[in-house]
Amino acid sequence: MKITILLPLAACCLLNSAFAFDAAKNKAKNALPFEPKVQEFKLPAAIDENGVIDESKLGDSPYAKAVIYGSKLMNETTRYLGLQAKDEKKRFAGNNLSCSSCHASGGVVQTQSSFVGITARFPQYNSRGDRVITLQDRINGCFMRSMSGKPIPTNSDEMRAMLAYMHYLSVGYEVGSKVKGTVVKPEFIDRAADPKKGAKIYADRCASCHGENGEGIKNEEFAKGGDYYTFPPLWGKDSYNTGAGMYRLIKAAGYIKSSMPKGDATLSWEEAYDVAAFMNSHERPIKEGREKDFPDRDIKPMDMDVGPYNDGFDENAHRFGPYKQMIKK
Ligand code: HEC
Ligand code: HEC
Repeated sequence: MKITILLPLAACCLLNSAFAFDAAKNKAKNALPFEPKVQEFKLPAAIDENGVIDESKLGDSPYAKAVIYGSKLMNETTRYLGLQAKDEKKRFAGNNLSCSSCHASGGVVQTQSSFVGITARFPQYNSRGDRVITLQDRINGCFMRSMSGKPIPTNSDEMRAMLAYMHYLSVGYEVGSKVKGTVVKPEFIDRAADPKKGAKIYADRCASCHGENGEGIKNEEFAKGGDYYTFPPLWGKDSYNTGAGMYRLIKAAGYIKSSMPKGDATLSWEEAYDVAAFMNSHERPIKEGREKDFPDRDIKPMDMDVGPYNDGFDENAHRFGPYKQMIKK
C-alpha cells in the first residue's frame, strides 16, 4: 500500500522542479539596472564603534537632534517604543528587545546587520512580499516580527528620527551602493542541523550570557538609563516571533557564525547550525499568516519552515536542512 502511494509522488516531484530555490530567478528578480558601487565600511565622525554619539561634534540643529533621538530609539527601544514606554500609545514593540539586540550598538557593527550606508540601498526588491519596499517598510517589518509588535506610523517623529539616524550613518555612500563586508555569505553543511548537539554547544558557549533557559540577563541599572537587557533573551515571550529573520535557520546560523559568542565568534559552520536549530526549537511568540510570505515559491527561502512549497521537501527538511540538494543552480 505504502509503495503505491509513494511512487507516483516521487515521480511527480522528480519531473517537476525538485528544487526549492531557483538561484537564477532570484538573481533576475534582484537585478538592478546599474552596477552598484561597493564602498568601504566607515562610521561617521560623531559615532564611535560602540555606537556612542559625540554630541559636541553633531551640534544642536533640528537634524542633529533627530539623529540623537534616533540613536536612543535604536539602543533603548523598550524605553521609547516598547513595553516600558510611559505613553501606552507608543508601545509598538511587543517584546523588550531593542534594535541593538541584533543590530549591535545601534547598527554600527559591520557583520551584525549594520545600518551603515543603508539609505543608499532602499527602495529595494523584497522577496517576502514579492514587491519593492521602502526603508520605512523594512523598519516596520522588524517591528512586526523581530520586535513581535505592530508597525509604527510612517509620519511619526519616531520614524523620522530613525530615518535621520540611518541617514547620518549613510552620508558619503552613493545612491545604490553596497558596503563591503556586511553580508555574511552562508555556507551549507552536508547534514541536517542537530538541535541535540546544539544543546551542548549552547550550555558551553552561550548560556553564560543568554541564560540557561535562553531568558537573557536584565540590566539592573535600567532605571538609570541604558537598555532593558544587558544580554537579550533568545527564546520565550520576550524574544523575536516566528516570522523574524532570526527564526530561519540559515540566517540565524550566519549571524551566530559571524558574531557569537560575542567577542569570540569561533564556532564552525556545523556548530553554528546546530546551536541555531536548538535556539529556534523553543517556544516563542507566533506570527500568524506566514503561509502568505514569499508568494513566488520558486525563490521562497530554503529555510522557511512553513509551506506551501513547489518542491518535494517537507517542512522538517526546510527547517533543518540539509540545503545543498535544494538549490537549482
Ligand atoms: C531579533 C533580531 C532583530 C531585531 C531585534 C531587529 N532586527 Fe532588524 N533585522 C534583523 C535581521 C536578521 C535582518 C535581516 C538581515 C538580512 O536580511 O540578512 C534585519 C534587517 C533590518 C533592516 C534592513 C537591513 C538591510 O541592510 O537591508 C532594517 C532597516 C532593520 N532590520 C531595522 C530594524 C529596526 C529599526 C529594529 C528595531 C525597531 C530592528 N531592525 C530590530 C534582525 C533584527
Ligand atoms: C559574552 C556574552 C555573549 C555570549 C557568550 C553569547 N552572546 Fe549572543 N549576544 C550577546 C550580546 C551582548 C548580544 C546583543 C548584540 C550585540 O551587542 O552583539 C547578543 C545577541 C545575540 C543574538 C541576537 C539577539 C536576540 O535576542 O536574538 C543571538 C541570536 C545570539 N546572541 C546568539 C548567541 C549564541 C547562539 C551564542 C552561543 C554560541 C551566544 N549568542 C553567545 C552576548 C553574548
